[in-house]
Amino acid sequence: MTQNLTKPNNSLTSKPPPPLCTFLFFIILCILGFYSVHYPTRNPKNALLFHQIFLSSATNSTIASYLRSLTSHPHLAGTKPSLETIRYVKTHFENLGLETHTVAFKTLLSYPLHASVSMHFNNGSVFSLPLNEMGTSSYASSGVVQPYHAYSPSGTAQGKVVFVNHGTEDDYRALGLMGVNVNGCIVLVRKGGGLYRGAVVEMARKKGALGVLMYTEGDVSRGSFGFGAERGTVMKEVGDPLTPGWAGVEDGERLELEDNKVLERFPGIPSLPLSFESAQVILESLGGPLAPQEWRDSGPSRLSRVGPGPVMVNFTYQGEKKLATIHNVFAVIRGLEEPDRYVLLGNHRDAWTYGAVDPNSGTATLLDIARRYALLMRKGWNPRRTIIFCSWDAEEFGMIGSTEWVEQNLLNLRAKAVAYLNVDCAVQGPGFFAGATPQLDNLIFEVTKKVNGPDSEAATLYGEWTTMNGSNIERLSGVYSDFAPFLHHAGVPSVDIYYGRDFPVYHTAFDTFNWMINYADPFFRRHVAVAGVWGLLGLHLADDPVLPLNYLSYAEQLQEHKDVLSSFLDASISLTPLATSIQELASAAKRANDEAKRLMKQEFSDDLLALKMRALNDRLMLAERGFLDTDGIKGKEWFKHLIYGPRSSAPHSNHESKLVFFPGISDAIAESTRMGQRERQAAIQHEIWRVARAIQRAADALKGELT
Ligand SMILES: *[C@@H]1O[C@H](CO)[C@@H](O)[C@H](O)[C@H]1NC(C)=O
Ligand SMILES: *[C@@H]1O[C@H](CO)[C@@H](O)[C@H](O)[C@H]1NC(C)=O
Ligand SMILES: *[C@@H]1O[C@H](CO)[C@@H](O)[C@H](O)[C@H]1NC(C)=O
Ligand SMILES: *[C@@H]1O[C@H](CO)[C@@H](O)[C@H](O)[C@H]1NC(C)=O
Repeated sequence: MTQNLTKPNNSLTSKPPPPLCTFLFFIILCILGFYSVHYPTRNPKNALLFHQIFLSSATNSTIASYLRSLTSHPHLAGTKPSLETIRYVKTHFENLGLETHTVAFKTLLSYPLHASVSMHFNNGSVFSLPLNEMGTSSYASSGVVQPYHAYSPSGTAQGKVVFVNHGTEDDYRALGLMGVNVNGCIVLVRKGGGLYRGAVVEMARKKGALGVLMYTEGDVSRGSFGFGAERGTVMKEVGDPLTPGWAGVEDGERLELEDNKVLERFPGIPSLPLSFESAQVILESLGGPLAPQEWRDSGPSRLSRVGPGPVMVNFTYQGEKKLATIHNVFAVIRGLEEPDRYVLLGNHRDAWTYGAVDPNSGTATLLDIARRYALLMRKGWNPRRTIIFCSWDAEEFGMIGSTEWVEQNLLNLRAKAVAYLNVDCAVQGPGFFAGATPQLDNLIFEVTKKVNGPDSEAATLYGEWTTMNGSNIERLSGVYSDFAPFLHHAGVPSVDIYYGRDFPVYHTAFDTFNWMINYADPFFRRHVAVAGVWGLLGLHLADDPVLPLNYLSYAEQLQEHKDVLSSFLDASISLTPLATSIQELASAAKRANDEAKRLMKQEFSDDLLALKMRALNDRLMLAERGFLDTDGIKGKEWFKHLIYGPRSSAPHSNHESKLVFFPGISDAIAESTRMGQRERQAAIQHEIWRVARAIQRAADALKGELT
């Protein structure tokens, strides 16, 4: 059954038949041959058979062994040991017989040289805080990079410490009410207020702080004992800072390090991650007013007073920024009928330390999907469209590998990419999570109904997801993984899936294979589930004759966004343009869905049907690009998508957490609080018009007709 499923007319070996039969047979053969040459619309049932084989080829042992190999040593981007990890991934693809290639970029990365934090007491005694997460075993011998913030400026900061909770605008306001000012001080921040790391540092600088110490709380029940320190980037924006908007190729143009455009991406004051244990030592020493009750309730046990001082802290960070070569690895499975349509499955490979969760749980899963797709190919399968496996480098420094590649291939991607399917940390704990652009919602639901739930007998993943998490699909406004360049810059429909909301050894030296099997996925069942969903999404997008993209879901989601938005605005601002364009999108979506149904029902495929499907598919693929705007989001022009994208961390009113869409409108609302009524109204209304026009463009693309 499995051999040559796509070419049933090829294997004809029979005894010499009678003449009439031969004639009829010849006719049939001609017809079949004619069909197979001219009518590329295959029987979709064959594809479904292969999808079944895909599901039944799942194994946990392969994924476990890939993960063990990938995490055998640290592999920070741009370092020598990372070359071995690159080779491992490349060799895996090659051994499967897949067309494999590597694309290198030369980009500005950042590494630590030296760091120290000392406490100076009034009685003259000095105490150096331990910065080594692993106690006696040194970083030099393990190859683990010491905790640091990539792109932090080098420098020394001395001053009294103030505890600023999460370091949000609200937190500084609370301190202000207590008469506490951080000017000339060092702030101690507890990670987790929803602000991006770099934004926390920027906020502290604006408030006059000289430096930032940041810590993450441990979770003993999940194998984190307070010694880990969370590495991470503090750079603004994404991609190589020396080549903003274009690809950082070997001998290409790059800005000078001293260029203002480069410098403004880096924070103005030094910062350093601390372990929870070290942070507690500082917290204990603080005098000054009592911390607000809610900070103490949710915060660390040894928090009592917020400072400043009386203890003086002296902290020094010395780092180097240098050009380093990074490598993206690709494996390509050419589409048989539509080789110029791309379905991309991507995951980054570089890790701060061993990367068992972040990101190699995703890498191991990607490698296993490649294994299973290769198995299907040996059984005669070829995808209709081209599938591309992408293994990105330097994501941890700010999505650099994927961003440079998207910038390099922007025109081809905008013209030909059907969807980008991202997995970063495949498994960090319990509970399935999905983020996506809304036209992919239905497909995600359908696919999760076909995959076994890893955490209970006899339930589908969809069943578990619904019970545990209401099968809620999030939207991809955040800039936290490699979908960002694809969606926010190139307008490619995108998905991001994972197990577990977060994990306590994030970016620490304890993100190891042992942590994974002890605390997150002992039998690799959740990995298998992610592989099932991810791989099946890829197969449907690559094989379905009509692309499984439903824009009615998009229109409904936009309608909800509009309703939420209206609750933040007064009657002086009109949402009518938005309402009208959403209506247009809904009606175009309905027409497209009806057309898809009609085309799917046709019994015989012919040239005309193939062309009609191709035309419809192009409209479905291109509609998402309509949400892009040439000018981008004000102040972050690289971000072109007006529905989903980052909001600025400018002083916000309390709408902040709710508007995770329409970033331009959100920013306008936040920034216009200081303006007069008329100016404010005009600024917000302008952003509403821009979004309305973007939705209209999407509707027009979906209709595929000129006005
Ligand atoms: C100085 O004060 C600190 C904090 O109160 C204390 O831990 C340390 O033992 C004192 N050192 C001396 C020499 O008294
Ligand atoms: C602060 O630390 C730096 C680097 O270790 C050192 O050079 C400097 O003398 C220290 N300052 C004080 C007041 O101890
Ligand atoms: C989803 O599941 C996670 C982990 O079990 C839980 O923390 C979270 O509250 C759930 N969210 C919803 C919306 O049910
Ligand atoms: C794979 O799953 C089986 C059944 O749950 C389990 O016995 C086995 O230990 C798992 N293998 C690995 C490597 O986790």
